[in-house]
Formats: sequence, structure tokens, C-alpha cells
Amino acid sequence: MSAAAPRSIWSSRWAFILVTVGSAVGLGNIWRFPYMTGAQGGSAFVLVYLLCVALVGLPLLMAEILIGRRGRGNPISAMLKVSEENGASPWWGLLGWVGVLGALLILSYYSVVAGWIVDYIYQTVSGVKVMTPEAAKQHFDDLLADPLQLIFWNTIFLALTVGVVARGVLSGIERASLLLMPALFIILLFLVFWGGMVGDMRAAWHFMFDFKPELLTGQVVLSAMGHAFFSLSLGMGAIMAYGSYLDKHTSIAHNSFWIALADTLVGLLAGLAVFSFTFAHGLKASSGPGLVFQTLPLVFAHMPGGQVVGAFFFLLVLFAAWTSAISLVEPFVAWMTERLGIHRAVAAWGTGLAVWLLGVAVCLSLNDWSGWKLFGLNLFDQLDYLTSRIFMPLSGLAIAVFVGWIMSRKNVRDEITLPAAHFLIWWRILRYVTILAIVMVFVYRLTNPDP
Ligand code: PHE
Repeated sequence: MSAAAPRSIWSSRWAFILVTVGSAVGLGNIWRFPYMTGAQGGSAFVLVYLLCVALVGLPLLMAEILIGRRGRGNPISAMLKVSEENGASPWWGLLGWVGVLGALLILSYYSVVAGWIVDYIYQTVSGVKVMTPEAAKQHFDDLLADPLQLIFWNTIFLALTVGVVARGVLSGIERASLLLMPALFIILLFLVFWGGMVGDMRAAWHFMFDFKPELLTGQVVLSAMGHAFFSLSLGMGAIMAYGSYLDKHTSIAHNSFWIALADTLVGLLAGLAVFSFTFAHGLKASSGPGLVFQTLPLVFAHMPGGQVVGAFFFLLVLFAAWTSAISLVEPFVAWMTERLGIHRAVAAWGTGLAVWLLGVAVCLSLNDWSGWKLFGLNLFDQLDYLTSRIFMPLSGLAIAVFVGWIMSRKNVRDEITLPAAHFLIWWRILRYVTILAIVMVFVYRLTNPDP
């Protein structure tokens, strides 16, 4: 389906669910969720994250799809159109801009991490085995210390992503998602099972689900909320863009529910698997972004048939990252083609080049330029911090205000076809709870700046 034609419609309700799950399920679930949970003390983070998905993420997912469908265009045009329809200021169009540009910032480091996955596929297929935790760590550290390798793998991944967007064909991805997303789910279930057999599942479970209130800090709450946004692809135009191809009769509420559930389950399963191996090998859960990359290769090296399972697993993760990355580029490319009339391929490769240039700086920030820090963070961490903890929540807040308070209730009601009582529950949550939750987290952070 051509994303450039705003009036295109997904071929079915399933297609919509699949591509949206494709956007939501990605490195956020398999790489980011486990390492964030590990770094932020486990269960406290998980609990706040689940609360945020229910009270902030899901209501906003519906709101964002709603704007996209009503506006029927790229996020910037959609925001302008829906603002106009509701007599609101055209300044709301800025919200579309924040999303579209924020998405490109995310992509600049997201694709570097996806590049690591490509390297791991290559290593696994070539039979490299790391038998000890030290070797696994060394391997990861060596990769990060080598800017040329990082840039090389990043270039490959970005080219894959931009190549698809340039062709403007989402149907290939739609069909592939249909096959590969369930495969990812099954192999994750297998890994959880394997974790139960040879890992320390009990410790993993306690770590993730035994609530310890003393671990709850402002930092944990902010990062858990940020992760709920990141994982559900919120506030960055991606969901709005996909919503703009949704037909009028598909229920936004029901489908959003399934999308949020699938996304959350994948994260929880990945966390359980990763931690059961982490603890069994005596590794530290708090080792940061390298967690998955230092734990899983070790598991595969010791597993019978691990070379095949490992290669297959990393391939599926690559695919999950790919479908997410596509949804990060698509909104801006859609805007350039629709608004500026630029040829889709030129728009896509041009955008890719800009993201690639920033990506080179991100690669260097992990080694040669690692001394260059702002607020103690290198460029890689800064981009992650800025987008997930500031851009996404603020943009989410604006979306909640827009749909909850600016749009006329009639127009909102037009799109959300729930029975009246259920509609009211969602609407009130969006108008009060979601907004208050985001504001409170921000105010708390500003007044309690902990490290
Ligand atoms: N949700 C994706 C993931 O979990 C990342 C993403 C964020 C995609 C924002 C699109 C928009 O990996």
C-alpha cells in the first residue's frame, strides 16, 4: 500500500493491527525493556511501566490513531486539518513537527543499535561462540570500540529501512509481519521455556514482579513512563501516520487494546527470558545497554543447536527493529511527498542521508568522542534521554490536551464508537488521569532532581 497516497486504506483490520504492532514491537521490547528494568531496580520499574501503559499509553494510542484517521494525511497535515475542523489554532500543527523530527532523532541511534544486531547475526552464523561472561563482554566492548564497524552495520540497516520506504510499499512489510511477528512471539516463548529449564526463572520472576516500594524513585517513574511511550511508538507521528490509512469502520478502541497488549507481552517475555539467563550466569542485571548483547550469545553458545536458534532469534529481532524503523521514517517522507511534491525515493534517501550523518556522530560518541559529554551523557544517551523522557511525554501531553479538551466531543465521539459508558471512561481517563499523570511526573522530576 502506498503510504504517499493519504487515501489508501489498510487491506484489513488485521493488516492494521500487524503493521502497528510492527511499529510498536522492536528494540524497545527486546533490548531496551530488559536493560531499563535491570538498571532501574526491577519490579518498581515494571509496575510503574504497566500502570503507565494502562493509564497513559493505551488512552493516548487511541487518541493518536483518532487524529490520524480524522486528518487523513501525514502527521503535520493531519494536525492542521483536525485543528481547523475544530476551530483551533494552526499552531497545533507544530505538534506534528515535533513528532516527525523527534522520530528522526530516535532513528539516528535506534539504527546504530539495530546495526549491533546485524553484527550479532553475522557472528552467530559464522560460528563465533562466546563461552564465558568475560568473553561475551569483551566481544561487545570490542564492537563498541570500533567506529568503522559500527558505521558499517549502521549503514546496512539504514539502507534496508530507507529502501523499503523509498519504494513506498508497505504491503511487503505487511505480509512479512504476518509471518514473522508470530514467529518472534513463538521463539520468545521458547526462550522463556529454556530459561525455566536451564536459567534461574524464579530469580527473574522475583526481580521483575516482587514489588519493593523502597526502589520507587522519581527517576524510576520518569523512565518507566518514557519507556511506555517509546515501546508503544507514541508521540512521534508513527501511529498517527498509520492511523491515517485506517478505514472508517474499524474500531479504534478494540484494536488499540490488542496492540498495547501484544507489545507489553513481548517486553515482559523478553525480560523474563533475559533475566533468567542473566542470573543463572551470575551476570549483573544493571549492566546497561549491553545487557541483552552480553547475555544471549552466552546462552546460545551453551544451548544444543544454539547456532541455529541464535541466528534465527537475532534475525527476528532485526526484523522487529526494521518494521519499527520504517515507521520512524515514513511520517517525514510522507510529508515531503505530499506537501512538497518531492519524489518519494529522493525524499526517502535524502532523509536517510541526514539520519546517517547524525548516526556517524552517534557511533563515534561510543568510542573516539566518548569524552564529549553534556550533563554526564554522551550523544547516544542524550538522544535517548531527550526523545523518550522529554519529547515523547510532552508530545503525548499535547495530544491528550488536544483530543480531550480542544476537539469537539462530537468529533471525538464520531471516531470512538464504543458504547456510551465505555466511551466516557476512556474520555475521562484521557482528560484527567493521563494529563495529570504526565504533568505530575514532570513536576516531580523538576522539583526532585535525583541523579
Ligand atoms: N516502539 C518501537 C520499539 O519499541 C520504537 C519506536 C518509537 C517506533 C517511536 C516508532 C516511534 O522499538
